[in-house]
Amino acid sequence: MKTGCVILAGGAGTRMKSERPKVLAEVLCKPMLGWVLDACGKFGFDKTVVVTGFKTELTEAYINSRNEGILTALQKEQKGTGDAVKCAAELIADMDAVCVLNGDAPFIDCETLKSSLAYHTENGAEVTVITAEIVQPQGYGRIIRKNGEFSAIREQKDCSPEEAEISEVNSGAYWFSGKKLLETLPKLSTNNAAGEYYLTDCVELMDKRVAYKSDNSDIVLGANTRKALFELNTIARNAVIEKHMDNGVSFISTDGIIIGTDVEIGCDTTVMPNTVILGSTKIGKGCNIGANCHIENCVIGDNVTFDNVHAYDSVVEENVKIGPFAHLRPGTTIRTGVKIGNFVEIKNSDIGMNTCAAHLTYVGDSDVGRGVNFGCGSITANYDGINKYRTKIGDHAFIGSNTNLIAPVEIGANATTAAGSTVTKNVPENALFVERGATRVKENWEKNFKRKKK
Ligand code: UD1
Ligand code: CA
Repeated sequence: MKTGCVILAGGAGTRMKSERPKVLAEVLCKPMLGWVLDACGKFGFDKTVVVTGFKTELTEAYINSRNEGILTALQKEQKGTGDAVKCAAELIADMDAVCVLNGDAPFIDCETLKSSLAYHTENGAEVTVITAEIVQPQGYGRIIRKNGEFSAIREQKDCSPEEAEISEVNSGAYWFSGKKLLETLPKLSTNNAAGEYYLTDCVELMDKRVAYKSDNSDIVLGANTRKALFELNTIARNAVIEKHMDNGVSFISTDGIIIGTDVEIGCDTTVMPNTVILGSTKIGKGCNIGANCHIENCVIGDNVTFDNVHAYDSVVEENVKIGPFAHLRPGTTIRTGVKIGNFVEIKNSDIGMNTCAAHLTYVGDSDVGRGVNFGCGSITANYDGINKYRTKIGDHAFIGSNTNLIAPVEIGANATTAAGSTVTKNVPENALFVERGATRVKENWEKNFKRKKK
């Protein structure tokens, strides 16, 4: 059986008061559309089509950045969810079962998609609506049952007072028989309170309709406003932190802690307050992360300490201590046993085992060996204003305090640079490099200086 998915993402989301499409509004720093696409990716549809409309170029740019072969269909005018699916009809015409999802309901998950498809198939249904019971059903389409049998979806605006009491609502996620969906879409009308083509009207136009009630009521939650978006963030944030607690991660307090959904953390690691961990970050066991760290797309080994560290797109091996107040920029690898202290920035560099940069150092575009010592204030000058160059430092080299390494330059193994030197040519192994002006001490200079001033 071929399965296709249509994700509705064309609406402007007026109530969000944004210049961007609503589906790009973020929950835990990932667009809501990204959550839906992740669930689709896990399910493994044969084809996924996103219907775009308002600011289509922004939605398309996000979809293309994911590079997953997802198709898009343009809905020029936002005439309702039924019209949106129509815009994708041609692309899904060869699918046996078509799943329709709302791009603004991020908590739909792969398990629900699988079990609802099984229910859809067992019942030989033409449409299966995924529903849930919620405490505050206002704004959602209500599930109308007659003698227990599912009969229709009634939008909020079209509900009678009795229907408005119903707490079972439409999640906006459905399975359709592909063939029946294509037959039914042209029959939709705008004869309703909103004057839109409602996808929900397909239900009454199909004979074999069933409702699949999910135990996880979060799947229906959508965000039409910033307040609702904040609530989704709160739910997701707590759920992610609880998952890590279940996996053996400690939190003394969860204040200010935000962890993205895709982050992995090993047992016996403690995350301290005001720490934000995002993207595809993986952290090992027995680490101490925080307080006040920001980590994105990093791989961190076991027994690592991060104190007030910002780290992006970097790899840190085990038994490393970084901070306080250090910055790892993209393309950095920090090897086992390294110590990085306060006010150190490392960019696009490989720092060898047991090397130490304890204070006030900038290392950019460099390949640094093992056991190297960077004195306080030593830096690489990797940029001449036009091009960037690499610096190479051999094992056990000693970079004196306040050394300027003007790249491209190589320091041999066991070489030493004298404090305050500006190194513009390669230093051989075991050598001492000194570059200083002659030292002058003028006796009684203060007295003479003051007399001249008068
Ligand atoms: C819709 C359902 C409602 C359900 C709710 C669940 C209809 C008529 N109603 O209502 O029963 O309880 O979702 O969240 O379907 N969109 C387009 N093009 C359009 C209109 C909307 O692509 O012309 C997209 C939006 O970007 C959004 C999704 O479709 O991602 C849902 O639209 P929205 O206006 O938010 O529908 P709801 O009023 O929430
Ligand atoms: Ca909505």
